Amino acid sequence: MASNAVTPRLASDRSGQAARHVAIIMDGNGRWAKKRMLPRVAGHKAGVDAVRRTARAAWDMGIECLTLYAFSSENWKRPEQEIIDLTGLLKHFIRSDLDEFHANGVRLRIIGDYHAFEPGAVRMIDEALARTSANRKSTLVIALNYGAQDELARAARILAQQAVRGEIDPATIAPGHISALLDTTGLPPLDLLIRTSGEQRLSNFLLWQAAYAELYFTDTLWPDFDERSLAEALDDFRARERRFGGL
Ligand code: IPE
Ligand code: IPE
Ligand code: MG
Repeated sequence: MASNAVTPRLASDRSGQAARHVAIIMDGNGRWAKKRMLPRVAGHKAGVDAVRRTARAAWDMGIECLTLYAFSSENWKRPEQEIIDLTGLLKHFIRSDLDEFHANGVRLRIIGDYHAFEPGAVRMIDEALARTSANRKSTLVIALNYGAQDELARAARILAQQAVRGEIDPATIAPGHISALLDTTGLPPLDLLIRTSGEQRLSNFLLWQAAYAELYFTDTLWPDFDERSLAEALDDFRARERRFGGL
């Protein structure tokens, strides 16, 4: 057995609680490349390998839902060439990995308005969503052009339109109305939110959904993240005491 092999262990096989839904802010690709005197795109390429590794490990551990922050609504501020590179990698990833996901019963979901990407990418995403929509074993959620503030503003807009049309009484609006209009509707509650690369901020990711998520920060740069890193985060999660405001 390879020295870095991880003993398969279910997310629920432990003394603590199971993590049904894990989200990751995949950060540090650029710094990983810089350390190696490589262009940033090399870091993003290595980041795709980490996505593949982590998604496979998550299925093996029985995690129902894995949500990955791939491109934020603020990442449009980056140089055009980097955006072109990231879009190309996304298309390449769908082409090379979708068959395996599909064969493993993984359903793909997107959060964020991915229609902002170029038409070829949008078409590939739509096809991937349609192809995997009936899969039930687990869900891989990719956040593309996602920003939690934008997501909440979109939900507010819909509620306001319903109120104007007299379909809803504003006095009755409750958290459940908002949850139901978010991109994550229907997904299990977020249990664990991981951020790599040592940064300790949310960068506009899942602000509503993280209300009672456990937060886990690691200095590991995303391209170095692997099965062992995920297992460590889950070990840490299992030892947490979640109170949800109770005693
Ligand atoms: C994360 O790595 C990937 C994306 C945001 C697309 P970065 O590109 O942010 O890497 P750093 O933070 O510059 O190291
Ligand atoms: C957050 O990383 C977005 C993704 C991982 C896709 P950033 O690198 O964009 O975040 P900031 O700019 O450091 O907050
Ligand atoms: Mg970054």
